[in-house]
Amino acid sequence: MASHPIGIFDSGYGGLTVFRSIAARLPQYDYIYIGDNARAPYGYRPFETIYQYTLECVKEFFKMGCPLVIIACNTASANALRAIQQNDLPAIDEGRRVLGVIRPSAEVIGNYTKTGSIGIMGTIGTVKSNAYKIETEKFFPGIRIYQQACPMLVHIVENGDYDKDIAGTYVNMYLDELLSKAQDIDTVLLACTHYPLLMKKIKEHLPPNVSVVSQGDIVAESLEHYLQRHPEMESRITRNGSMQFYTTESPVDFDEHATIFFGSEVKSGHLQL
Ligand code: DGL
Repeated sequence: MASHPIGIFDSGYGGLTVFRSIAARLPQYDYIYIGDNARAPYGYRPFETIYQYTLECVKEFFKMGCPLVIIACNTASANALRAIQQNDLPAIDEGRRVLGVIRPSAEVIGNYTKTGSIGIMGTIGTVKSNAYKIETEKFFPGIRIYQQACPMLVHIVENGDYDKDIAGTYVNMYLDELLSKAQDIDTVLLACTHYPLLMKKIKEHLPPNVSVVSQGDIVAESLEHYLQRHPEMESRITRNGSMQFYTTESPVDFDEHATIFFGSEVKSGHLQL
């Protein structure tokens, strides 16, 4: 029997924090995860490179039989998703779908704030794209979005240093810069799927009146609703509860780190692009 899993993509480990929530909420489906660790981080790369890398991985998912791909990476969602949806998908296969993480987050983030001022922590690529400001204002007109690029954080997380003092030093520096942009920020969105690994450091530094929101459960809920609204897609996805993991780097390194992100044991294979 052919397998038609949901594909979940990130530049590296970060998407596993989203996959973890998706697998907990929708355990019945088959999944394939690809982490492009060999080329991570994407965050500081130019738009064109992020787009090319992401498209290459999306095509791999399609070759593996995925009818639906979730780009569980804000940087790739901000810089590649629209072009893939509008220009590439119609040429490759009109019946397949690629979804991102920015729109599901933008749809609900306004519900978390009382003051109407939200801080966004993301990569340079995400912040530069302005995608959060543009998308959130569509759903919550008048909301104020303040963005902070945090270029060191993905390096720290990919290196497994999220519990070290160096992580705290950079988290504190970026949060101070972010909170200095407006006095009334009461909600901070982790708009990078790597950052939930830094949650402890982030919470330690944030004042008690500021809450922090991560995307895993938001994206998982949004996917569930999407599949309810699209039975033609839902019926194509196979349901054996299987999970396959691929990395473009060393599977040994991937499995060691991935287990921490994913919360249970991960056994990956190598993907040659
Ligand atoms: N996890 C990716 C995101 O959500 C970031 C990674 C990167 O810079 O590669 O933006």
